[in-house]
Amino acid sequence: MAAVLRAIPKSAASAAVAVTVAAAARSADCSDDHVPSLDLGWSHHGPLAAFDAKAVRRGFQVYKEVCSSCHSVNRVNYRNLVEYGAWSEKEVKAMAEDVDVIDGPDSSGEMFERPGKLSDPLPSPYANDEAGRAANGGALPPDLSLMVKARHAGVDYIFNLLTGYVEPPEGKEILEGLHYNPYFSGASIAMPPPLMDGAVEYPDGTPATASQMAKDVSVFLAWASEPEHDDRKQAGMKWIFALGTAAVVTGFYKRFRWGPYKTRQITYLK
Ligand code: HEC
Repeated sequence: MAAVLRAIPKSAASAAVAVTVAAAARSADCSDDHVPSLDLGWSHHGPLAAFDAKAVRRGFQVYKEVCSSCHSVNRVNYRNLVEYGAWSEKEVKAMAEDVDVIDGPDSSGEMFERPGKLSDPLPSPYANDEAGRAANGGALPPDLSLMVKARHAGVDYIFNLLTGYVEPPEGKEILEGLHYNPYFSGASIAMPPPLMDGAVEYPDGTPATASQMAKDVSVFLAWASEPEHDDRKQAGMKWIFALGTAAVVTGFYKRFRWGPYKTRQITYLK
């Protein structure tokens, strides 16, 4: 390869490389079995941006009222909601107490039911994976805790998937129980379109259109997959500031100490 490149002029070689790279990128897209997700420019992307806490709160409401009938988010515990701060402790305790949790065994060896506590994970809709499959035509609704991390396009994918249901193109056969969604790998998904305009009522008065709910629940799932996101960026900012200040001080100190040596003139007398 090196010999070939040496034989052709440099500009032609780099043009050839550029064309090959571009073609490779395009052919990778063309051979995908789904439409690539659009980059939606989320407000929490960027080195200094935090999650939109109001969107996380609304998104949790959408999850609870719509998605939680099929999906779990079992890596999130009620106490994580309190720690994040978009809900008050009283609110979250009341939410947790609404759920009956099976605990035990007690001193007589029996399992018993008790109201939920802050240390419990959000409840799963099905007792086990088999029950989940049986209720959904054989397809298991996956746990959504880390879904944003588990798909290449991350939070963009979740939004595009939720809003991407369309009529199948002419000639495309969709098996019974499946739905056409070009953003899903293979384009046939077992999840029916989950969001309809007005499916929830937001207490803050935000109009609950399907795309608004899709956006909010995507932000909630992004938070669920990385609850430390805001702290991480804040800590990063502090470190960059501290190291930047240290670099300036060190630079100044070095010049201050070395200045006399660097600027002195040595003259040898006979
Ligand atoms: C009626 C049950 C049901 C509801 C309600 C539901 N889903 Fe699903 N969902 C499923 C099933 C079943 C699958 C698995 C699909 C498959 O493998 O074909 C799935 C898959 C998914 C996936 C994974 C797609 C992938 O790439 O593997 C995501 C993300 C998702 N759902 C998000 C949501 C969100 C967000 C909501 C709420 C707005 C929601 N779902 C509501 C049944 C449901």
